[in-house]
Amino acid sequence: MKLVVIPGDGIGKEVVPAAAHVLKAVIPDLDIVTAEAGWGTFQELGTAVPASTLEAVRTAGAALFGAVQSPAHPVSGYRSAILTLRTALDLYANVRPVRALPLPGARADVDLIIVRENTEGLYVGEEQGNQEQAEAIRRITRAASERIGLLAARFARRRLTIVHKANVLPLTDGLFRDTVRATVSTIRPDVDVEEMLVDVAAYHLARSPERFDVIVAPNLYGDILSDLASVWCGGLGLAPSINLGNGVAVAEPVHGSAPDIAGRGIANPIAAILSGALLCRYVWYLPRVAVAIEEGVRRALQAGAATPDLGGTLTTGEMVKAVLDHIRPDEAERYGT
Ligand code: NAI
Ligand code: MG
Repeated sequence: MKLVVIPGDGIGKEVVPAAAHVLKAVIPDLDIVTAEAGWGTFQELGTAVPASTLEAVRTAGAALFGAVQSPAHPVSGYRSAILTLRTALDLYANVRPVRALPLPGARADVDLIIVRENTEGLYVGEEQGNQEQAEAIRRITRAASERIGLLAARFARRRLTIVHKANVLPLTDGLFRDTVRATVSTIRPDVDVEEMLVDVAAYHLARSPERFDVIVAPNLYGDILSDLASVWCGGLGLAPSINLGNGVAVAEPVHGSAPDIAGRGIANPIAAILSGALLCRYVWYLPRVAVAIEEGVRRALQAGAATPDLGGTLTTGEMVKAVLDHIRPDEAERYGT
């Protein structure tokens, strides 16, 4: 099994090695190679994602990406490394599970997954205009809606919520809604399919997150709703995600490069560690190893382990140690991997 680690910029350089360390501890024969990408890479090499990095990820089939920093103003020739990776590798789904963690004051009943279409919508990046007027293309296709519907159907346990705004955008969001609904109903007649306007979905996610199971949404809605939902797992330092394509996947914490704390060794590595668990579950088909990591994280938090974002004083390295101390290797082995 092979893994490409791409630390990227800022705290990516701290949390990705931390997560790789945990993965290596639970999968000793994992073959880990490091590759470059990001703003730092662009400044050095003139490209944010070198061809060698793309090739390495294609070959390995699995990568763990940290975060990239984006310049405040557009820089000619620069495009965000993660957007480039998603497009070049056709990583068509961004899957963001939100499961409540044992933190003081947190509610325990949230267990939902946001499946975000990752290749089209407003993210096709086709803008034109001037200082007076500007337009952006928001593309929705049947093909992309079908494949995100198929994937969401696989994740659904009891209910699937299709998020859209077809009352205002009947052609584009109507196509998304109708295609996803038809796809899911065909292959998962056992799943309760509902639809919800995106603004109403934001309200319900903030007010009664426990009512959701799997949410499927076009690109921008999925992006916004998943940051909102990350509140329920304890914040950005704890929220994992994985980008899935055909035969290739890139896991990444939901958070960015956090320049305000980068370089101080205090970033919370849990979002990256849990992203590693998603690789175990969805790419390497090692569900028991994924559970062992996730339970290690839960027990460490229950025991009070906390980095400054959680109100504690642990460093990144100390948090990794706390998680490793609470992983039971036999938990993975007992069930077989
Ligand atoms: P951010 O997610 O980097 O940080 C937001 C806040 O959360 C900051 O106060 C930060 O200190 C805190 N935070 C985030 N992750 C943390 C962790 N693991 N442990 C402790 N605290 C954590 O978002 P921000 O500040 O808006 O963006 C910073 C840079 O990251 C920008 O250049 C932005 O473009 C980029 N970015 C990259 C993403 C990616 O690579 N996928 C996603 C989001 C932003
Ligand atoms: Mg986002």
